[in-house]
Formats: sequence, C-alpha cells, structure tokens
Amino acid sequence: MSPFRLFSFLSLALSVASHSIPVDRIKWTDCSKNVPQSTGSFNGSAIDLTNLPPTLHCGQIDVPMDYSKPLCHTNMITLRLAMYRPANPKGVLFFNPGGTDPGVVVAWEVALGLTKIFSELMDFDLLVMDVRGTFSSNPLNVSLETFSGLLGRYPTNQTAFNVVKKASSKVIQSWIDSSSPPGIIEHVGTREVVQDYESIRLALGYAKIDFLGASYGSFRAAQYAAKYPNRVNNFVLDAVVPHGRSLLAQAQDDIAASNRLMLRADAYCQNDPTCPFHTQGQGSVLKAFQKVLSNAKESPYFIPPCVNSTQCYPYVTDLDVQTVMLGNLLGSPDFPAILTGISSALSGDGSFFVYGPPPLEAVVAMPLLCNDYEYERTFEYFQRSLEQGLKKDHSGIGMTQAWQIQVYLFPKLLTTAVQIADSLGCSYGAPHGHSKHQPLSDYPYATKWLS
Ligand SMILES: *[C@@H]1O[C@H](CO)[C@@H](O)[C@H](O)[C@H]1NC(C)=O
Ligand SMILES: *[C@@H]1O[C@H](CO)[C@@H](O)[C@H](O)[C@H]1NC(C)=O
Ligand SMILES: *[C@@H]1O[C@H](CO)[C@@H](O)[C@H](O)[C@H]1NC(C)=O
Ligand SMILES: *[C@@H]1O[C@H](CO)[C@@H](O)[C@H](O)[C@H]1NC(C)=O
Repeated sequence: MSPFRLFSFLSLALSVASHSIPVDRIKWTDCSKNVPQSTGSFNGSAIDLTNLPPTLHCGQIDVPMDYSKPLCHTNMITLRLAMYRPANPKGVLFFNPGGTDPGVVVAWEVALGLTKIFSELMDFDLLVMDVRGTFSSNPLNVSLETFSGLLGRYPTNQTAFNVVKKASSKVIQSWIDSSSPPGIIEHVGTREVVQDYESIRLALGYAKIDFLGASYGSFRAAQYAAKYPNRVNNFVLDAVVPHGRSLLAQAQDDIAASNRLMLRADAYCQNDPTCPFHTQGQGSVLKAFQKVLSNAKESPYFIPPCVNSTQCYPYVTDLDVQTVMLGNLLGSPDFPAILTGISSALSGDGSFFVYGPPPLEAVVAMPLLCNDYEYERTFEYFQRSLEQGLKKDHSGIGMTQAWQIQVYLFPKLLTTAVQIADSLGCSYGAPHGHSKHQPLSDYPYATKWLS
C-alpha cells in the first residue's frame, strides 16, 4: 500500500447543514459503455462486455454541487454508481470502501464473481458510487508533479513553515482553477457525500438502508446516520474512531500506534525462527530499523532500476525509509516482508524502502479532507505537536498523517483557496486506529449484522 493512502484513512467529524434534498432520478446506463477504470485487482479490458451478468446495473444521478442552492447546469455534479441486484433483495446495502478508494468497481467485481467479500450478502441490493470528485464522478483535476514537489522534511522554524504553506497554497489554487465545474473543490466534503447518499436512497425508493463503511467510509456512514437516523437499518462501521480529537492529540495517538506496531514487529520476530533477527533478542528489530535510518541519512540507498523510471526515485533517503515504513504499518502489516526488507537494507539493498510519486487518488484525498477539517494553522501549534510526538517516538517513525495535514493542507489566509476552504464550517478530526484497521478482504461481522 502506498504511504500516501494514509490521507484517505482519516476519520473526521463535521457539522452537517440541513437542506432539503431534491429528489432526482437515477438514469440507468449501459454498463458495457461505462466500464470502470482498471485498478490493481480489476482489469476492465479483460471483461467480456457482450456477456455481462444481469445482476450488474450501472447508473448516474445528477445532484447539486452545492446542496444549499438549486440544481442547475452550473451547480451540478454527476455521480456514477453501480449496483449488484439479485432477484428478490432483502434490503439495500450501501458500501463505502473509504477515502478516495474506487467505489463503482466493487459492484462489478461482485457481480462478475471476481471477489468473495460479499459472498454471504448476495441476497442484498449492493449500492456503490464513486464519491464526488473521484474517478467517474466529476474527478478533481489535481496535479501530481506540483504536489510531489512540496513534500519534504517537516519545517522546524517559522520561516521554513511559511515557505511550505505558501507553496502548498499555490498548488491548491491551481487545482481550484483547473477543476470543473468551477467551485467543486469547495463541495467535496463529507457533508455533501452524506446528501449524495440520501439522494440515491430517495431515488431507489428504499425507506431504510444498511451501510457498510470501511475506513473513511465509516465516517461517511456515521455522519449519514447522524443526519438521517430514521433511514438507518443496520450500519457496520469498520475501523471507526472516536471523533472530536484535535490534530495535536491525533498526532500523539498516531505516533503511539506506529510505535506499538514496531514493537509488534519485534515480537513477531521473536516468535518466528525464520526472522533474520530471531537470534538477536528482544528489541533487535527496532535497533535494525534505526540502523537503516541512520545509514540512509548518511548516504541514501541507491536503486539502479529507478534511475530512468517515473515510478520510483533512485535514491532512498531516511525520510523515504520513514514514509515507506509508516505505509507498511497501515492496514494489516506484512511482518515477514517488513523484517526481510529491513534485513536486506542492512546488507545494502534498500529496495524495500523504494519510494515514488504519490498516486493520483492520494492527492485527490487532500481537498476531500480539507473540506472536513478545521485546525489551528500556526507554526507554534504544529511545533508543539511535533515536539510532543517525537519525544514518544522511540522507534524513529518520525511522521504522522496529522502532521502532514498541518504542514501541507490548505494554509490559512494566503490565497482565496484558503478563504474558500475556511468558509466551510468544520469540526475536529480524529485519528484512524491503525492497528484496528481490517483488511478489506472479508466482513464476517457485516454478515452477522446484516443477514
Ligand atoms: C488486461 O487484460 C488485457 C486483455 O486480456 C491484457 O492484454 C492486459 O495485459 C491486462 N492488463 C493487465 C495490467 O493485467
Ligand atoms: C529554518 O529551517 C530551514 C530548514 O530546516 C533552515 O535551512 C534555516 O536555516 C532555518 N532558519 C532559521 C532562521 O533557523
Ligand atoms: C486539468 O488542468 C490542466 C492545467 O492544470 C489543464 O491543462 C487540463 O486541461 C485540465 N483537464 C481537464 C480535464 O479539465
Ligand atoms: C538512463 O537513460 C540514459 C539515457 O537514455 C542512459 O544513458 C543510461 O544508461 C540509463 N541508465 C540506466 C541505469 O538505465
């Protein structure tokens, strides 16, 4: 998993404005002309489009970009959705896989039998959409190159902080200027996504919905439930977190979580005779990781295959080692791979820690988050958070998603972009429980609650 996926793994709280939802219709479309873009697990070109299963339904619905204003062509977003629909559904299950993860493709995978994740729930209508601003639903036009150029070490003084903020506001302004319809970046928060789900529920004619929300999808589901309690049947929230934590507190939680995971990697090694550090005793994994960090700091690892590649960078710095390790600790960490990776790096092969530009959807996640977030944007606040966190960072992970948000997300009062973002009322976010995050491979608990 890319470390930048971490932006899509935040859960947040926000206040939801109340506006009446215009009821619109779903336009059902020809699936063979609306094949989702390929992902790691889905290859659109490999599907026989002349023989799609009758359970697969594709559609789109026009909804207001800004729900406080009437739907019209300048205030319209087209959401693409797909459903797996059995003959006699027991109810409807809305599924949101989280962050900027693709949605529509899930219904395809289910209908085509390419995944078993909903195998116990095949008697439900399954509804998935690409959330607004992503994939087939008016994707934001963000630029990878400009964003990658921003990333670096955390600023340690006011001057350096201001430089990053200014650069980031410039990048974000360019996204605002080049995304359409104009103004969309202001309206891609959870507040709108909740209304989108309500528009779809109304259009489908279900009195109540079941909802499976994973990762950031749990936040969307929770906000839906808060706004429309009478529409809620069974809601299953995977990797949900307490709301109302400040970014400073989140950072401390994140550092504690990644340090616990490093200790778990160490314990795993003690129990696994094939671990390269097995005979070196407790704590050897942390020591080895720190050695890799100091090696990379002294002299970055050279990765020959990345010399002429656009996918990866040829030099792995200590910062890259930290970023890649954090990414590997998210979700369900593959401890054997991590331990082997550290061991190889100690012998001079740093390829486990190879790093490259973030995927587009990780960049799209930033404006989505921005719409949900409010935090103190001063250097003093960031510095306090950084210092407190690093004091407890015994393993040397050195970074958190909370700090990335503080450093790179919309800076206050530098551009109009920021004023737009700031005009949205938001409340506080909360950390994602790294260690509690389940793989999206199966949902035994969902089956239990929904069946
Ligand atoms: C996708 O499927 C097509 C057709 O079967 C194949 O040619 C192509 O190599 C596949 N792409 C990937 C990335 O697997
Ligand atoms: C601020 O931090 C930057 C980058 O770390 C450094 O180059 C610069 O010298 C620092 N400035 C001051 C005034 O300490
Ligand atoms: C995306 O933005 C770039 C400029 O940053 C522009 O050249 C391009 O046409 C835009 N693409 C779309 C689909 O709007
Ligand atoms: C990278 O590309 C350049 C120019 O095409 C070539 O001269 C060089 O040998 C390549 N380096 C590697 C390591 O592939």
